[in-house]
Amino acid sequence: MALFSILVTLCLLNIHQVLSDKSDVGLNPGEMIANHGYPSETHEITTDDGYIITLFRIPHGINDDGAAKRPPILLMHGFGVCSGEFVSLGPERGLGFILADAGYDVWLANTRGTAFSRKHTTIDPDLNPEQFFNYTWHEIAIYDVANSIDYILDVNGDDSVYYVGHSQGTTVFLVLASTKPEYNSKIRVANLMAPAAIIKHYPSTLIQGICKYVDRVWSLLQKYRIYEIPLLGTLRETVTTLCANYPDEESDPLCAMIHDSILSRVDEADVPVIVTNCPSGAGLKQYVHYGQLVRDGGFRQWNYGTEKNLEVYGSENPPDYDLSLITTPVAFYYAKNDGLITVEDENLLASMVPNVPVNYMVPDDSFAHIDFAMADDVVELVYNELLDVLSKY
Ligand SMILES: *[C@@H]1O[C@H](CO)[C@@H](O)[C@H](O)[C@H]1NC(C)=O
Repeated sequence: MALFSILVTLCLLNIHQVLSDKSDVGLNPGEMIANHGYPSETHEITTDDGYIITLFRIPHGINDDGAAKRPPILLMHGFGVCSGEFVSLGPERGLGFILADAGYDVWLANTRGTAFSRKHTTIDPDLNPEQFFNYTWHEIAIYDVANSIDYILDVNGDDSVYYVGHSQGTTVFLVLASTKPEYNSKIRVANLMAPAAIIKHYPSTLIQGICKYVDRVWSLLQKYRIYEIPLLGTLRETVTTLCANYPDEESDPLCAMIHDSILSRVDEADVPVIVTNCPSGAGLKQYVHYGQLVRDGGFRQWNYGTEKNLEVYGSENPPDYDLSLITTPVAFYYAKNDGLITVEDENLLASMVPNVPVNYMVPDDSFAHIDFAMADDVVELVYNELLDVLSKY
């Protein structure tokens, strides 16, 4: 099972070359923002179900006095990472910085269970992990994302936000806009990069095979009281410490291995900045829910098993998310070499969402899943298109 986590983590971390600044090593995303001379704010909000989550904010660009009103934009990170993925590349390539300089009020959310949002008003994640980590991206969508949007609108004063999601950050938009359709009017346009909802043709047959037994694996993990993905939580600090001086201390075999196998397209000097915040924590149930999607081929709610499904949903199978209820315009950005989401699955998803003004395939055959946040040429290949889409809404 550990292998299962490690394999997918390896896929998620197929990070491309980046340009970043070594002075960012060891800083949290808010500190990285300030480190580059940008205005940086940290906001904590409490969700309707009691989770305390952190939002970092870049209220305006660096050459801007902050006097004028700016439209708010919410950036939602992927599974197993945190908002650090949008600032680790520094002002030139980090999407958070680029959007701030383009005139937006930038908000970087961190979902429940990540390093900056591992808190709850009454539940202690270490003492009662079975309660704290009892959520999937369904709850992240209807609480973390919904409550973040309302908070941002309240602080900014506008009546709608722009939205950008990467990977799981796309899943949660699709869940929210179909489950609580009243949120469609609060989102001007949703930009979904590497969209993860239909995962019917998952490229790895090994993972596909494991997913057939996903419910059994889940029961087993519960029996051993494993609820949090340890590699992403506790081990992160170890990795960060080990890699702090990489590549000066090449003698460290673990960091060298991480670089060679996972971060081979990243400049060696950038590895310490990236691993400072990525990976971040995540709940195992989130991950198992994705496993159910791979097994079942649809985009649907948590599967409890036939008996409990009947009790909870009134049907043997969990209900599909009704994507036809999404009225927000959705721009999709996908890549041929994604590694997790096939072109076939992406095209099927795009055909199910009613209002899709843009379905953009990255014009580079080797562009992969994590490259949407990490590639050295992501600005030319993706962000220029994204800025263009934003300017039209
Ligand atoms: C987890 O949440 C479900 C409802 O979604 C509930 O039925 C179950 O009892 C909860 N489990 C724990 C351990 O809190």
